[in-house]
Amino acid sequence: MPVVAIVGAGVIGVSWARLFAGAGWQVRVSDPRPDLAEIVERQLAGLPVTAVADLAAAADGADFVQEAGPERIELKHEMFATLAANTRDDVVLASSSSSLLPTAIAAGNAAAARIVIGHPFNPPELMPLVEVVPGAETSAGTVAGAVEVYRALGKVPITLQKEIPGFVGNRLQKVLNDQAIHLVQQGVITAPDLDELVKVSLGLRWATIGPFESMHLGGGPEGMRHLVTHVGSQMTFEIGRPDREHLDDVLGEVEAAYGTGEQSDRERAAERDRRTRAVLDALEQK
Ligand SMILES: NC(=O)c1ccc[n+]([C@@H]2O[C@H](COP(=O)([O-])OP(=O)(O)OC[C@H]3O[C@@H](n4cnc5c(N)ncnc54)[C@H](O)[C@@H]3O)[C@@H](O)[C@H]2O)c1
Repeated sequence: MPVVAIVGAGVIGVSWARLFAGAGWQVRVSDPRPDLAEIVERQLAGLPVTAVADLAAAADGADFVQEAGPERIELKHEMFATLAANTRDDVVLASSSSSLLPTAIAAGNAAAARIVIGHPFNPPELMPLVEVVPGAETSAGTVAGAVEVYRALGKVPITLQKEIPGFVGNRLQKVLNDQAIHLVQQGVITAPDLDELVKVSLGLRWATIGPFESMHLGGGPEGMRHLVTHVGSQMTFEIGRPDREHLDDVLGEVEAAYGTGEQSDRERAAERDRRTRAVLDALEQK
């Protein structure tokens, strides 16, 4: 049984642990938090997962490392120094980081060639995408190794050709989220109505085809070439920006619509996961 060391038992680490365990890996989860054993017992019950608080011990003998610790560069440097010193020189060290660049994470690390971003969408156990992002010193073998592992887990790894803040998924998401906040702040639409609008239009469309194929179809037989020169050429309005100094009204609207607190969060996450599974199942059936 191959062994994976998961670094961090937070939202993302626990979900990675479930995914690897379900795919036949022996999982070690490492985290300095005092309730690590309880988390493993409660959230990963019945799975081949062991709590190993000490990072060096968790890394020792592992065949793959998936880091999901806090998003702070000095902590990533510390964690990756320990990982570099305690793993074989053929082991891929993947970071789940959403916002730190791989070259920055690997700076000064003796195993920089083995460090790569493997950025999931939350929750990794359900969302197919893993963005694989090499840094300046990442070797081609590391990228290939990461892609192979993610494919074997049933994920869809997509390798970026170069690093950029936010990678691709979150850059696209930021454009839409910024515009959503702006439209609510401008009084154009309510937050729940905007959510509904996206679910019954763009969300559904993008679950089946991406923006480029969609533009190509939108232009008819002449495709995207027609679209950009006709309808597309009239979309010249300014799109504005959110007012980040005055977010209280928007936040209040979202909280009133969806609630706050642990129970509400758990219930909504469960409903999101149920719906995500239903869409994935339907798409598999074609
Ligand atoms: N939350 C998301 O939606 C999301 C999505 C994709 C990627 N990510 C990335 O995944 C990583 C983890 O994010 P999260 O949301 O799970 O954070 P989180 O705060 O829920 O979990 C981080 C965990 O790391 C632990 N930790 C602290 N110091 C540590 C150390 N020295 N060694 C090992 N573990 C340590 C903490 O105790 C905590 O349990 C971040 O890099 C983040 O950018 C998050």
